[in-house]
Amino acid sequence: GGATRDRLRIAIQKSGRLSEPARGLLASCGLSWRESRDKLFCYGETLPVDLLLVRDDDIPGLLADGVCDYGIVGRNVLDEVGADRALKGLPQVSKAVRGLGFGGCRLDIAIPESAEWTGPAQLQGSRIATSYPGLLQQWLDANGVEATIVNLSGSVEIAPRLGQADVICDLVSSGATLTANQLKPAVTLMTSEAVLAGPVTPLSDVRGDLASLLLRRLDGVLRLRD
Ligand code: PRP
Ligand code: ZN
Ligand code: MG
Repeated sequence: GGATRDRLRIAIQKSGRLSEPARGLLASCGLSWRESRDKLFCYGETLPVDLLLVRDDDIPGLLADGVCDYGIVGRNVLDEVGADRALKGLPQVSKAVRGLGFGGCRLDIAIPESAEWTGPAQLQGSRIATSYPGLLQQWLDANGVEATIVNLSGSVEIAPRLGQADVICDLVSSGATLTANQLKPAVTLMTSEAVLAGPVTPLSDVRGDLASLLLRRLDGVLRLRD
């Protein structure tokens, strides 16, 4: 955990699918900011709540290190870090405190368009490319399948064509990326959406009061959006 601070710090995605909706949601909670020149830090004006603009995949680590107190991130990214910590026997430090109703997607295993899906057993002995090795390993274990996980941080969908893997396990939103790579969804490991991620243990200093205030406002905003 980090040192005590008197301002709350929230990490959001700098650019990408969750970026604008995350900022919009926080603005709806009455927050406003002054941007720094590098546009990576936004100083909270209406409340002592600052934003850090980062890569979404870095958000769980920033929370674990106590650099940020809350983050808006896909449940898939948060759960992947959780799965990895569980596999390593480490305690959980962050959890999803609210589902935010945007950024919906699925974590799917996808196979070549020409292939037929007969069930998890057909993956026995195969090579599966993914950026989600923890969640994939948990699912393989649950289904009694032994496979080789090929860990890639991006461009997972091209791995079968390059001969790096037989199938993939990646996020599917519209499905356009799969289609463009002659792949089709076979099975869903999890559905995901953007969540507000926060500490498992409540913050004890003034940040705890700020977080309570923010959550009350957030609940009001989410109720109106339903
Ligand atoms: C995700 C995922 C796929 C793509 C699928 O990446 O990794 O590449 O979206 O979307 P589609 O089904 O609409 O084509 P994304 O750009 O969201 O994030 P990333 O850069 O963090 O992987
Ligand atoms: Zn990402
Ligand atoms: Mg991607």
